[in-house]
Amino acid sequence: MNSQGSAPVRHFLRDDDLSPAEQAQVLDLAEAMKKDRYGYRPFEGPATVAVLFDKPSTRTRVSFAVGVGELGGLPLIIDGGASQMGRGEPIEDTARVLSRQAAAIVWRTSGQERIEAMASASAVPVVNALTDEFHPCQILADLQTIREHRGALRGLTMAYLGDGANNMAHSYLLGGATAGMHVRIGAPSGYLPDALILDRAAEIAASTGGSVTAVSDPAAAVDGVHVVATDTWVSMGQDGKEERIAAFGPFQVNSALLAGAAHDAIVLHCLPAYRGLEITADVIDGPRSVVWDQAENRLHAQKALLQWLVSRSGESS
Ligand code: CP
Ligand code: NVA
Repeated sequence: MNSQGSAPVRHFLRDDDLSPAEQAQVLDLAEAMKKDRYGYRPFEGPATVAVLFDKPSTRTRVSFAVGVGELGGLPLIIDGGASQMGRGEPIEDTARVLSRQAAAIVWRTSGQERIEAMASASAVPVVNALTDEFHPCQILADLQTIREHRGALRGLTMAYLGDGANNMAHSYLLGGATAGMHVRIGAPSGYLPDALILDRAAEIAASTGGSVTAVSDPAAAVDGVHVVATDTWVSMGQDGKEERIAAFGPFQVNSALLAGAAHDAIVLHCLPAYRGLEITADVIDGPRSVVWDQAENRLHAQKALLQWLVSRSGESS
């Protein structure tokens, strides 16, 4: 509680900022919002949501712009490099200015410490639209998609293949464990998840009935799983493309590897996809792929998240 007796402002900087019960509430709301797309108007007025990008984006940019508009608000899309932050204005000063005028701040940036600095000085919710370490909005959309196709999350087994140390792998670990899933990361040695994040995910999984593992054998990773996910082998800002392609080759999601998954396993990819590298065209464009539902669900999941965060932040105690 703050000195005014209001609840502290809630941020979504990493997947474990939502408890298991809170994550389920957001996913329930996302499902309801998908069924009644124009029926929720928490930002009518309109309130403005500042959406800043320090890296390229198609899905995140569009889904936040469309989503804020559908919630009755005004999306203000800002190119981070064209803001004064690009010339060295402190992140905290930017947060103070934005939070005097906007209802929420959404930011895609590089280091996690940057979005933590933004949240530390913001009086309104701050949402991580991708950092080098996490992509939690994507995982909410992915969980919504899995629920749609498999009915529930708890107890399902998911394999993520590829760069086990990137933002998607880390967010699958934390978000999947929060949902009570069994998450297996399949990655070459040298590209395994950050040990602290793996430990944190294991701690969460112990309380939800899920589990987390990281292995360097792709066949073991996908054995019998209900969900197979992958991501680019070269994330935004990473170097060493040729070296990465050579290391990740055995972790390509193709029909031979998928033969080891459950017969009705679904395939996820956050997109953009590089056909012939992390995933083959016959798989991503084939019957097991749910990637277009997944991309659409960015909209519904983020609308639900924004409504949930704004409605809880500053509530009177
Ligand atoms: N999946 C995802 O975040 O896509 P964009 O980079 O296009 O926003
Ligand atoms: N891991 C990828 C995700 C893109 C949405 C990247 O950070 O580039």
